[in-house]
Amino acid sequence: MLEAHSLNKWFDRIHAVKDVSFRVEQGEVLGFLGPNGAGKSTTMRMLTGFLTPSSGTARICGHDILAAPIEARKRIGYLPENAPVYDDMTVLGFLRFIAEARGLSGVAGTTHLRKAVELSHLDGVLNQPIDTLSKGFRQRVCLAQAILHDPPVLILDEPTDGLDPNQKHVVRTMIQSMAATKAIILSTHILEEVEAVCTRVLIIANGSLVANGTPASLKQQSEWAGAVDMTFPENTGDLTALFKGLASCKRVEKQTQRYLLFPHAPGRLPQETTALLSAHHLSPLAFSVTEGRLDEVFRTLTTPAGKTSKTP
Ligand SMILES: Nc1ncnc2c1ncn2[C@@H]1O[C@H](COP(=O)(O)OP(=O)(O)OP(=O)(O)O)[C@@H](O)[C@H]1O
Ligand SMILES: [Mg+2]
Repeated sequence: MLEAHSLNKWFDRIHAVKDVSFRVEQGEVLGFLGPNGAGKSTTMRMLTGFLTPSSGTARICGHDILAAPIEARKRIGYLPENAPVYDDMTVLGFLRFIAEARGLSGVAGTTHLRKAVELSHLDGVLNQPIDTLSKGFRQRVCLAQAILHDPPVLILDEPTDGLDPNQKHVVRTMIQSMAATKAIILSTHILEEVEAVCTRVLIIANGSLVANGTPASLKQQSEWAGAVDMTFPENTGDLTALFKGLASCKRVEKQTQRYLLFPHAPGRLPQETTALLSAHHLSPLAFSVTEGRLDEVFRTLTTPAGKTSKTP
């Protein structure tokens, strides 16, 4: 549904987006992750035709954004950063205006408008001027304009930014309810959001793609994937050397009676540890195998200092 080919963007001497290529298929919710200034919004602006790429291009449902910009744009719904809307219009007036701009009039316009209002839960505020709405409702009005023409591709730049937990939940549920029939790209700084709604993640740092995979596969790259976390009774002696002797153990962290054993790679460490514990008649008070952590993978891929493991 969407293919980006070697997108580049220069702003004078700033190379903001560097040779970015990726594909998004129907049914996918692609999370765009990256530090501030990484190039997420710039990439989205190029895909939606608000910025011209310095080089490279993209195709939306087969339509090239440079050769057939109008056909490409018809198939995109875009929620820009900071949700710009016309403040003095009412919600209904604004959505009617967008419907007309999209060439939807008469019965078709009313049907699309009703559906967008229903999905965005805006029924209660239709006649309210936009400048009197709370931030969450403004964001939903902006989402409603993005989905009004029922586009197959949705590009949402930080759709839950600044919303309270309930409003975040409403917007995420909305995204999930549309996911099956569309290709959706969203940017976010909230890693739990990625795990909750995204089927795939792109991590972008300094304008370049540094990772492309499912949240689960990225978490497997974490030092924490398959690590063993144990706590022993107070009178237990120091077990660090014993655990360091395990073949699949890369590193041991000790905090009073708590031990964290990090594996060379996720796999055999938990079994090796339990065998060692029973051979030495050791009974931990708590024993768990940890999941990988997306925050750690993100930090490793997007900071020059790289991996700095911290016990939670
Ligand atoms: N119109 C512009 N003129 C000059 N530089 C720009 C312009 N737009 C973006 N940039 C620069 O391009 C780089 C990427 O910015 P972009 O807004 O794409 O980052 P981002 O990943 O969306 O960041 P954030 O998470 O803060 O929204 C930054 O260095 C930014 O200052
Ligand atoms: Mg941005």
